[in-house]
Amino acid sequence: GLRKKEVNVLCLGLDNSGKTTIINQLKPANVQAQEIVPTIGFNIEKFKSSSLSFTVFDMSGQSRYRNLWEHYYKESHAIIFVIDSGDKLRMVVAKEELDTLLNHDDIRIKKIPVLFFANKMDLRDAMSSVKVSQMLSLENIKDKPWHICASNAIKGEGLQEGLDWLQGNMP
Ligand code: GTP
Ligand code: MG
Repeated sequence: GLRKKEVNVLCLGLDNSGKTTIINQLKPANVQAQEIVPTIGFNIEKFKSSSLSFTVFDMSGQSRYRNLWEHYYKESHAIIFVIDSGDKLRMVVAKEELDTLLNHDDIRIKKIPVLFFANKMDLRDAMSSVKVSQMLSLENIKDKPWHICASNAIKGEGLQEGLDWLQGNMP
């Protein structure tokens, strides 16, 4: 059969936002981890969609590891940025990290797609994806295709919609 196009995806966002849980859900059931632990440094995961073969760099969001993120900007073809919709207190920190990312020399000039997951939509006090996009000023992103999906990574809800969008917006 046809070889699927290989793409590198960088998965970013604050610690505890649900990055590893999301990536785990996207993997085939027989290779999914049963227990998710906070990521140390980063993990590399692979999975396929109907037309693409993904290599995902699942980065740690802990502040002490965030300086690792930029080393992978050059080789990335897409970004998944995960937000904990229930973490109102740290939304400003998430925005700071997003702004730093988007202004970085290796990202600013690239027209790569950015997929946002407003994750943990199941939490009683979760902000809507519209509210999250307002808090992060996503309307200011003019030079890259972007999209935001509400998700519940534990149940796997919203993830396929996001992946479909990413697949349709790869350069
Ligand atoms: P770091 O690796 O430290 O950067 O964190 P992470 O972004 O990879 O978060 P991780 O996937 O480890 O999830 C953190 C916690 O949030 C875990 O206890 C998950 O079970 C929980 N979690 C993830 N997604 C959801 C969700 O959609 N809803 C709820 N309620 N909890 C979630
Ligand atoms: Mg993790």
